[in-house]
Order: sequence, then C-alpha cells, then structure tokens
Amino acid sequence: MKGLILAGGRGTRLRPITHTGPKQLVPVANKPVIEYAIEDLREAGITDIGLVLGNKGRETIQETLGDGGSLDVDITYIIQGNPLGLSHAVGCARDFVDGDDFVVYLGDNILKQGIDELVDGFRERDVAAGIALQPVEHPEQFGVADVDESGMITRLVEKPDEPPSDLALIGIYVFSPAVFDVIEDLDPSWRGELEITDAIQSLLEYGHDIDSHVVEGWWKDTGKPEDILEANRLVLDDQTSSTDGTVEVGAEIRGDVDLDESSVIRNGAVVRGPASIGPDSEIGPGTYVGPYTSVGSETTIHGAHLENSVIIGNAEISTDEKIIDSLIGRGVAIGSADGLLPDGHRLVIGEHSDVKL
Ligand code: G1P
Repeated sequence: MKGLILAGGRGTRLRPITHTGPKQLVPVANKPVIEYAIEDLREAGITDIGLVLGNKGRETIQETLGDGGSLDVDITYIIQGNPLGLSHAVGCARDFVDGDDFVVYLGDNILKQGIDELVDGFRERDVAAGIALQPVEHPEQFGVADVDESGMITRLVEKPDEPPSDLALIGIYVFSPAVFDVIEDLDPSWRGELEITDAIQSLLEYGHDIDSHVVEGWWKDTGKPEDILEANRLVLDDQTSSTDGTVEVGAEIRGDVDLDESSVIRNGAVVRGPASIGPDSEIGPGTYVGPYTSVGSETTIHGAHLENSVIIGNAEISTDEKIIDSLIGRGVAIGSADGLLPDGHRLVIGEHSDVKL
C-alpha cells in the first residue's frame, strides 16, 4: 500500500503566514503540520509516500523534507500545479500509485489516534474505498456521509445545505485504484473543484462498496490561525516533558515543558507547561511563557508575558506586554514603545495581518 499526502492548496485562510511559506510547514508543538501525516502513514506501515504539491511554496517543502530519509520514509514529489480540487490532486498521482491500494491524507490535518484502524478495516473487507468520519457540530461545512448499520456508506455529499447526518469526512481515505477511472469522468462542483467526495459517490453509483471508520479522539484541520492554536493545545496536552536544555538557577519551570537541549531559560524567567521551546532559543529574565505556548527555533524573548500562542521562529520579542492567543510569523520583531512620544502602538504590518490592540 502507498501513501499520498495532498499539499497543493493555497492556504488563503492562513494569510499572512502563507504569503511567505506553505501552510503544511506551519509548526504545531514545534513540528511542521505535514510531519504528523507522514508519521501516521509510517506507523500504519506505509513508507512509500507521494507528496502532491501545488505551485505555492513547493521548493520550501522539498528542501525541508528532502527524500524523506530523516523521517524513515521514501518521498516522491508529484506536481499538481494549480489546485483544481482534491480529486484533481489524486488524479495527478496515477503513475506514482501504479495499480496499488493507497491512503490519501490531507496534508494539513492532525489526528490524535493515527490511521491504523482505518487501514486495517480496508484490508479486511473487499471494498473500493474506506473513509474516516467524525461527528461534527457543523456538518454543512464538510463532506457528509450517510452510513448503514454495518458501517457501509450509502451516500456522500459535499457541504450540503441539509446534511443527511453529522458525520463529516475528515480528509483521510483509503482507495483501490478503481478511483482513478471515476476521477476522469468528474465534473467540477459549484466551487469549481473536482471534489473527492463526488469521486467516492461515483464509486457507490457504479456499485462499489465503501467502508467507513468513525475516528475516536480529536481531529483538527489546521486551515485557520485559531485551528493552529487549537491543534497546538491538543498536541501539547499529550506531550510528556523532556527538559533537555539549560535551566538557570532562579528560573522556574512548572508542568510539562519540552525544552530543546540547545535552548536556555534564564534566571528570572517562568515557563509554565504544557509548552514547547525549540532549538537555539532564549527565554530571558522577566519573561513568562504560559500554558499552551510553542516557541520556535532561534527566538529570543525578554520581558513578555505569553500564553496560548505559537511563535514560528527567528523572532525577537522584547516588551513587557501580554501576548495571548497569537500566531507569530517567522522573523518577527516585537519591541517596546516605552518612553517614546507620542504615546501609541507603532506597527509595521503586512497585507492580511490581523491585529487586536
Ligand atoms: C475538504 C473536503 C471535505 C472534507 C474536508 C475535511 O474540504 O472537500 O469533504 O470534509 O476537506 O477537512 P475543504 O477543506 O477543501 O473545504
């Protein structure tokens, strides 16, 4: 069985972060989102992985993941070009899949439990596809499935006005190669995309059986900044601390804190877990890093009070202000305006930034 991670989207809901980098590399608990998908595939015994990329940020993804060797997988890059829908992305991988069964995993999704049960269920039954489902509060925002008592799918519909159930497709699917033939005959949906949901509905109409698996444990689509913060909270909640870095006398650590061996918490700083501090970073005197915060690599913080935030990395923060619920991009500098006249916030903010003062 092969794996296919779809990473071709533009990430418009994560602007301005995605103006300068692909959303799949945004870190959650100091690990790029896409690595969670790679790890889940590897855990399920799938190491031959195709990564479908669009035009956006594709060199950066290739430079970061390389041939997959550092993650013990073998990555083949497949170029989708313009994102014309998930079925289009899957269709681009026909040569790579080469007649095997394969798992499709949306590259910006994170799942607590992994995909073993979904993959095992598909292997045990004679079906054309197996799809992962989870009950959601707003099914109209997702692909939605109708399922019979034995777990077989009876109908699928993408973002329906009147959902037939509350079971959303969570973006993880197992397919037999039969799906490629129906993808060739698909028409674009109302949003102009070749939908994966429509491809599976077509398989049903051709008489194929489709299995489902309801995923226990949390699942998060990291499309928006608040989703990144929530995924960060969920992952940090599950971590166990490994405080390998330097904690100076007079610094205070409470709770689970993952501190990289090359980082330092200075005398007079307080870090309260769950929190993660990446490589080559310094938490300076007077700083408070509160629960559910991930500080990326090469970041220096002096004096700030941080909580429930993700700092992607290479940031310089020296202010006494409180920074909460924030997603802070790479290379950001946040300083103090103390003593400057006239009084007020001084901002250099790019297009699509979102600031609350
Ligand atoms: C896509 C799929 C949808 C699925 C969702 C899961 O939606 O089309 O069926 O429920 O991913 O995240 P999109 O994120 O493209 O709106």
